[in-house]
Amino acid sequence: MTTSTDTAPLCQLDDIPDGNAIEVEAMVAGELESLLVYRDGGQVSAFYNVCPHAGRRLDYAPGRFLVRNGLIICAAHGATFTAGDGNCQTGPCKGDRLRAVAVSVTNGTVHLA
Ligand code: FES
Repeated sequence: MTTSTDTAPLCQLDDIPDGNAIEVEAMVAGELESLLVYRDGGQVSAFYNVCPHAGRRLDYAPGRFLVRNGLIICAAHGATFTAGDGNCQTGPCKGDRLRAVAVSVTNGTVHLA
């Protein structure tokens, strides 16, 4: 897990295994938040580490996420979310979505956008 502040980089692109996600703690709107940061090649998406079903964390152990074939799987009850946009595809919150956090990648460094 990486901890970041408003002005610091979230992480390096290479910190994230391609097709997988890591946890980064960052200050977002003045609050320290746990974020899931997902990588697909050079593209990165980030979401609050909170499932819209019951508000549980998505990880099965601190900073360890279930990600398969572009889907993030909530460890609590198995809802699946498209990793690129956070839309829930199956499970108890189908049709809902993860709360996205805007990020950008510059010279291999991931920042809050
Ligand atoms: S809390 Fe995520 S599926 Fe129930």
